[in-house]
Amino acid sequence: MMKTLTVDLADRSYPIFIGESLISNSDLYSPYIKGKQVMIVTNTTVAPLYLEQVKSALSDYDVDEVILPDGEQYKNLDTLNLIFDALLEKRHNRTTTLIALGGGVVGDMTGFAASCYQRGVDFIQVPTTLLSQVDSSVGGKTAVNHPMGKNMIGAFYQPKCVIADISVLATLPQRELSAGIAEVVKYGLICNNEFYLWLDENVEALASYDTVALSRAVELSCLDKAAVVAQDEKEGGIRAILNLGHTFGHAIETNQGYGVWLHGEAVAAGMVMAADMSWRLGNISQQDVQRLQGMLKRAQLPCVPPKEMSNQDFIDLMQVDKKVLDGKLRLVLLTAIGEAVVTSDFSADTLHQTLDAGEQLGCSSQ
Ligand code: NAD
Ligand code: GLY
Repeated sequence: MMKTLTVDLADRSYPIFIGESLISNSDLYSPYIKGKQVMIVTNTTVAPLYLEQVKSALSDYDVDEVILPDGEQYKNLDTLNLIFDALLEKRHNRTTTLIALGGGVVGDMTGFAASCYQRGVDFIQVPTTLLSQVDSSVGGKTAVNHPMGKNMIGAFYQPKCVIADISVLATLPQRELSAGIAEVVKYGLICNNEFYLWLDENVEALASYDTVALSRAVELSCLDKAAVVAQDEKEGGIRAILNLGHTFGHAIETNQGYGVWLHGEAVAAGMVMAADMSWRLGNISQQDVQRLQGMLKRAQLPCVPPKEMSNQDFIDLMQVDKKVLDGKLRLVLLTAIGEAVVTSDFSADTLHQTLDAGEQLGCSSQ
């Protein structure tokens, strides 16, 4: 059975379709394609698995494709240019529609390309990883990385629809599935205690590809994300809570080299660090931190930062974060389980205590 949610953004509102065997259903695409031309953007891993199914659903259109190299290390301006090259070579005009078929890397780059090609063309998200189904395909953040910082060059640009097909998760490697679970746990932590309790019971089912559990997790995550995005599309305020753990996590990703730690893995360790700080500030209990660590471990996720990262490495990289305002670091911290704030109201000492805790964060887990 297919579920349909809505991201409510006035004239830019769009549906999220969630269910099994959706990518080959032409009826889901056609209302959102206004011209004859379609460019499918995918990568070398996803193309052999799913490109033909998507093309079969688009047989009424003039379909071209561009197959990008796979990996976070290719999420950059050079790779973005491959999309523009293909669009220009195939003479795509302003009524073309781009289809992002892949995980968050393909989705973020395709969305950004759509935002600038001929000053903006339509695009559809067909996310194929758990992480992209619960997070990156929804909400219109698009970007590429710069060597000095993650997602530093990009735009807010909403898709016309999101087609989240749970069946395609069957081919996802275990490590990638687990990385997606980190972003799912994030929603429970920041805004949905009931979901968090459900996740504590169901994290093993998610990590073992149980489609019923995965469908529910995608639906509840997208509901939470859509509600936040509808309130604050361009992150003037509340939307920043969706970045729980990301300031620490982006520092880890940049320090280790893009693609070495998966985004979701870095977010998992980052969420433990944010929870540790929240405990030090008296907002949550130490048991809450331990429970989170236990849940992440059961999802086969790391919950400590890389041993070799120094406090100064973190401080330097965290200063590049997009939440830094007038030189002041702001972090997403928990005020309770299921409640988060964006704040600069913490001392440098507290931050240093969390950074010092480093490896011990993992040792105290269940
Ligand atoms: P990814 O796009 O690199 O995909 C992970 C791996 O899985 C890749 O090797 C990919 O080719 C492969 N893959 C994808 N679908 C598959 C399938 N069905 N079967 C087998 N293999 C498959 O990584 P991701 O975790 O999906 O996304 C991470 C990216 O998303 C990061 O760049 C991050 O910055 C970005 N992100 C963006 C937002 C946003 O709001 N825009 C939110 C969160 C993350
Ligand atoms: N992934 C964070 C956001 O969409 O705002």
